[in-house]
Amino acid sequence: MANTTTTKNPNENLLINDIRKKVTFSIVEAYKNIRTNTIALMTKKDAKVLAISSPNASEGKSTTALNVAITVSQLEKKVLIIDADAHRPSLHKKLKIENDLGILNLIVDDSNLADAIHSHNNNLDVITCGTNTSKPSELLNSEKFDELLEKLKEKYDYIIIDTPPINPVSDALVIAQKVDAIILVVRAASTTHEAFRKALKSLGVLELKVDGVIINGADPRPKGYYKSKYSYYRYGKTYY
Ligand SMILES: Nc1ncnc2c1ncn2[C@@H]1O[C@H](COP(=O)(O)OP(=O)(O)O)[C@@H](O)[C@H]1O
Ligand SMILES: [Mg+2]
Repeated sequence: MANTTTTKNPNENLLINDIRKKVTFSIVEAYKNIRTNTIALMTKKDAKVLAISSPNASEGKSTTALNVAITVSQLEKKVLIIDADAHRPSLHKKLKIENDLGILNLIVDDSNLADAIHSHNNNLDVITCGTNTSKPSELLNSEKFDELLEKLKEKYDYIIIDTPPINPVSDALVIAQKVDAIILVVRAASTTHEAFRKALKSLGVLELKVDGVIINGADPRPKGYYKSKYSYYRYGKTYY
């Protein structure tokens, strides 16, 4: 993964992109757009904890969650990102940090909370998934996780939870019930309408609504205008 950018602004160097050698201007702009909409959403809902999920694996949840966390932290907001995907934990790999003590360990015992918090920059902290991955659904469902989240909410303006996908495993639905807002990532030319509808339906059974959808890999510009194959955000609307 390369922390590379084409601009000279040092803040932009924080933007993580493990898929391209260069983070282009249009990618940075796409994330700033997502940031604006995310903050507007969170402010409107008086929300602090945001889950970023998607119907299936490899649709860009972790990449998006991390880049949203980084861009929001650039606005001098205190942000915490938590990797809650015990099935495919990835934030530690993307950030090249240890994963021996993470959220799943803290749910069992948070006496060493401070040791589990990795500082990415002045405003962005990271809690990786951790090693206690035997019963993630039960751990995430526990009151101890609620208590831990309450404790963390006192320290941060925003908490972003990188979750597993909704359709194949139950953990994301467990987490979705504990957060203030839910954003779904769908991947252009990959996520099917059926998979998306299934995810919405699973959330709907729990009377949960999606607050925003990020289309990852979309080209929002007309052909020949300029190429920006990255993220595109629809806020406040569901997308069928
Ligand atoms: N817009 C994109 N274009 C190309 N590759 C991408 C894009 N978004 C994510 N990826 C790559 O796809 C893989 C899965 O992305 P990731 O964010 O880890 O997905 P998830 O968390 O949904 O499983 C990673 O290797 C990531 O670098
Ligand atoms: Mg992931």
